[in-house]
Amino acid sequence: MEDLSPRPGELEAIETASRDEISALQLQRMKWSLTHAYENSPFYRQRFDEAGVHPSDLKTLSDLAKFPFTTKKDLRDTYPFGMFAVPREKLARIHASSGTTGKPTVVGYTKNDIDTWATVVARSIRASGGRAGDIVHVAYGYGLFTGGLGAHYGAEKLGCTVVPISGGMTERQVTLMQDFKPRIIMVTPSYMLSILDEFRRHGIDPRESSLAVGIFGAEPWTNAMREEIEQAFDMHAVDIYGLSEVMGPGVANECVETKDGLHIWEDHFYPEIIHPETGEVLPDGEIGELVFTTLTKEGLPIIRYRTRDLTRLLPGTARSMRRMEKITGRSDDMMILRGVNVFPTQIEEQILKCRGLAPHFQIELSRAGRMDNMTVHVECTVEMADEGARAGSAKELAHHIKSIVGVSTKITVHEPGGVARSEGKAKRVVDNRPKE
Ligand code: DLL
Repeated sequence: MEDLSPRPGELEAIETASRDEISALQLQRMKWSLTHAYENSPFYRQRFDEAGVHPSDLKTLSDLAKFPFTTKKDLRDTYPFGMFAVPREKLARIHASSGTTGKPTVVGYTKNDIDTWATVVARSIRASGGRAGDIVHVAYGYGLFTGGLGAHYGAEKLGCTVVPISGGMTERQVTLMQDFKPRIIMVTPSYMLSILDEFRRHGIDPRESSLAVGIFGAEPWTNAMREEIEQAFDMHAVDIYGLSEVMGPGVANECVETKDGLHIWEDHFYPEIIHPETGEVLPDGEIGELVFTTLTKEGLPIIRYRTRDLTRLLPGTARSMRRMEKITGRSDDMMILRGVNVFPTQIEEQILKCRGLAPHFQIELSRAGRMDNMTVHVECTVEMADEGARAGSAKELAHHIKSIVGVSTKITVHEPGGVARSEGKAKRVVDNRPKE
């Protein structure tokens, strides 16, 4: 694969600034952000007053711990526009989450916010090995979801040619890739696997495709999956992270030359890791819940937003800004089976170890009496589709999950194409346990 390290002069100054410079900028911006939230959003004013804190109490970055957290529930409770810190007319754009339960969460951006967002996504694409002039195939969904438009504006800002295909119509995705020859693809890793199947279905060797870099995010995926995709397409696979409440894609991104976790663009987003139960701030290096404070956002400033994503903070490497380790999962996705905590990413890792299994999977939870049971639905590869091979793969997978993750599972190996596909974020867990 190509060496895509940045060329001299290509990075923004802040990407290689000293820690002291970064902290000084953060403190100055954090003061602004807290004041902006307090003065212009009645929600934050009430919250800070109730907690007995005032923006002037922030003297150092660690003083942020005195301020109250914000959660998804706050966004729901103030639906649709109640948390905004600018008059509605100043908003250039609205995005919203699909809201699987209850009301969606609505977020808003001023023109400056859209520009900041494009800047961090452009930076993310560059960190992934993208350059001005590249063709970027954007297969993240366009619409209220932040993936498509977020990627789009960033790619344009970097000077790329964007193909805004959005998700779905997989056959057409492959045809247009064959015709337009994009160098970069931006898509969820699970949908990339569907695209991979489509290449093979048409007898096209994916390694011969024009793709050099895939920028994958919006859902957890493992290093084992990275290897699978890199091998299949002979391309670099790089992780992009973000969430709509904080901005959208481009809050953090891996660097292609190191692939050692995601550099958080700390000049705009200030990270903390907290203990998920006590809320106490944990030192760098310890695993906990990721919390973000926006430092420059005007429309919807976010103060100490609890993401529910679990990771840890690590020092900078390819860039000065700190990294977060690849996300293990969301606290909401954690399953507890007979006392053992299990994340879908752990199951993914084990599936990828088994020859004969394709990495399409779904986990079904059910209950028999008082016992919770887990069934892993997975597919065999086309080459290993006979009955005997499937039984062997099922046994192997059950063994790996038992010995490494520590839980007993039932494995059902389906024919190729037998597990539901996603065109965006994959639904990894189907919970069929009776509601309590
Ligand atoms: O998923 C934004 C995005 C779009 C990120 C495209 C990257 C690429 P939401 O729909 O608000 O926003 O979902 C945010 O998705 O809290 C994580 O749980 C999960 N997530 C996003 N990126 C990653 C990633 C977009 N790289 C939620 N690894 C977040 C693991 C991720 N989980």
